[in-house]
Amino acid sequence: MPNFARISSKACALLLIATSLVFVAKAVSAMPQKSVEDLYLDKCSVCHGRDGAGKTAKGKKVKVKDVRDTITTMSEDEMIKIVNNGKGKDMDSWKKELSKEQIKELVDYYRSLAKK
Ligand code: HEC
Repeated sequence: MPNFARISSKACALLLIATSLVFVAKAVSAMPQKSVEDLYLDKCSVCHGRDGAGKTAKGKKVKVKDVRDTITTMSEDEMIKIVNNGKGKDMDSWKKELSKEQIKELVDYYRSLAKK
């Protein structure tokens, strides 16, 4: 005769593992992913401002231009190049710190600010 007590305690343990896995998976997916907006606010907004106008204390000091102006003269590719390689003495090169995808997303986000 099979030992039901042993089988059900095994089943119980499995169920416990399964539920805790679901729980962990939920907790992980609920963790805030760093969005492009967070990244922009973290790395770029000191100079370019939340709204892309560059009217922050630091932005004024280093003479950041308003994205509403630069978007009319600069293509997305040119901007991506600037973020990759830097420009002048105040706009840093970000290619060591950020991935290609992040830089493209940041430029897209920056350009989208011009339309707000
Ligand atoms: C220390 C201040 C500073 C920070 C931080 C900074 N920038 Fe800039 N950025 C500048 C300045 C100054 C220029 C203008 C350079 C020039 O035209 O001579 C510039 C130019 C640019 C340009 C070219 C188009 C334009 O509107 O002038 C882009 C695109 C840009 N920055 C994106 C970014 C992104 C994305 C980040 C964050 C990863 C960032 N910048 C962080 C100072 C900064």
